[in-house]
Amino acid sequence: MRQTTVMVIYGGPRQNGATANMLQCFTELLSRGAVKHSLPPVAFVRYNAYACGFAPCTDCRACCCSEGCIQRDMDDFFRDFETADALIFATPIYNMSFPAPLKTILDRMQRYYNARFSLGKRPPIVKHRPAVMLMTAGSGDEDGSIAVRQLERSFTVTNCALVGHCIRNGTDQPEGSHAVKETLAAKLEQCAAALLENV
Ligand SMILES: Cc1cc2nc3c(=O)[nH]c(=O)nc-3n(C[C@H](O)[C@H](O)[C@H](O)COP(=O)(O)O)c2cc1C
Repeated sequence: MRQTTVMVIYGGPRQNGATANMLQCFTELLSRGAVKHSLPPVAFVRYNAYACGFAPCTDCRACCCSEGCIQRDMDDFFRDFETADALIFATPIYNMSFPAPLKTILDRMQRYYNARFSLGKRPPIVKHRPAVMLMTAGSGDEDGSIAVRQLERSFTVTNCALVGHCIRNGTDQPEGSHAVKETLAAKLEQCAAALLENV
């Protein structure tokens, strides 16, 4: 039976923290949503940015002359990234941005930027994929908004569309109110529905 392959790119170092918890809720919602709407079952391909330990982009510019990255540590990642049906980015916010290992992954997307603008490949990735971003942040401020813009910028050359994002603020403060949790649950539901509608 056909299945929907969803690539999960996890940006946090902690395996049982707020971000992992939110991701778990979301993947369950997605699986249940697929059953409810008689869609193909969802299979998750997971990458943990900290565990992967990918090397940073060195701006060697080899990808300006020939397509792809000459650093081969991300070959499997790029294959899965290009062929997935949908993407989930799940990350805590660090200094209003991504933790360094996830930022490294975004920087390594430079190969697609150069495929587009140095080599004229249009689009650099043939398959269009919808994506959502799930974020947690300790403060109650708007600290996820910069990360949303950063991700959207990288999507301009990777043929992805951010169809939803959800931020759980205030994780460093005492447990949120019931109303806050309900709002978050509703937002996660919306993101799951948007992802399923767009695969
Ligand atoms: C190095 C570092 C930088 C952080 N920077 C921010 C920040 O800029 N804004 C914010 O709201 N929270 C910040 N936080 C708090 C985390 O975003 C928050 O605790 C997050 O929910 C942790 O997720 P986790 O439980 O999945 O590890 C920072 C935490 C760390 C460790």
